[in-house]
Amino acid sequence: MKRLAPSILSADFSRLGEHVAEIEKGGAHLVHVDVMDGHFVPNISFGATIMKSLAGKTSMPFDVHLMIETPDKYIPEFVTPQTEFITVHQEACTHLHRTVQLIKSLGVKAGVALNPATSLSTLDYILEDVDMVLIMSVNPGFGGQKFIPGALEKIRELAMIREELGLNFEIEVDGGACLDNAADLIEAGVDIMVAGSAVFGAPDIPKRAADFVEIFSRY
Ligand code: DX5
Ligand code: ZN
Repeated sequence: MKRLAPSILSADFSRLGEHVAEIEKGGAHLVHVDVMDGHFVPNISFGATIMKSLAGKTSMPFDVHLMIETPDKYIPEFVTPQTEFITVHQEACTHLHRTVQLIKSLGVKAGVALNPATSLSTLDYILEDVDMVLIMSVNPGFGGQKFIPGALEKIRELAMIREELGLNFEIEVDGGACLDNAADLIEAGVDIMVAGSAVFGAPDIPKRAADFVEIFSRY
């Protein structure tokens, strides 16, 4: 099943609970939680306290995207009964294998994200340990950026590698996803689609989430 993970980075933080209820009403599957430290990326967002304030307010699992340096220090804070994924950046991890094992040892699925300029080959020796690979289709740091077209081919290649190796990690795409490119992304191999501004910037948030889910249901 293809899943939609709206990014609350594009929500109105003063109405976060209502906004999360709206995406759930539209049939979204996961809450994408963008954590930025002002070091790994040139922006600061929020930490685990904000995410935890949503616990129990929605039944959707949390999909945590850590855009931070030294993630090992903070990973345990994001572990809750509702946390499905914790994703770290390949570029931010000196000992990626250790970090992936840490996440899994805490009972959470481990994801690894790649920036647009980072090669898939950097994951050659970790692919069989990961539950998800996140392909960034913008340079991380901000919502509302334009989709970088090269990401599409990267997703196709990753899906091919997955098949050749007989692995079953999920493929997530993050950045600039919208109703116009959703079908192409799913056809390329995406299992989980992050969408921030395309969902929370819509005049009718539940309807926009439902429109994405309708596209997914064709596959
Ligand atoms: C980018 C974040 C994304 C972003 C998605 O740094 O990781 O999750 O908020 O937002 P849109 O869909 O607006 O590009
Ligand atoms: Zn993200």
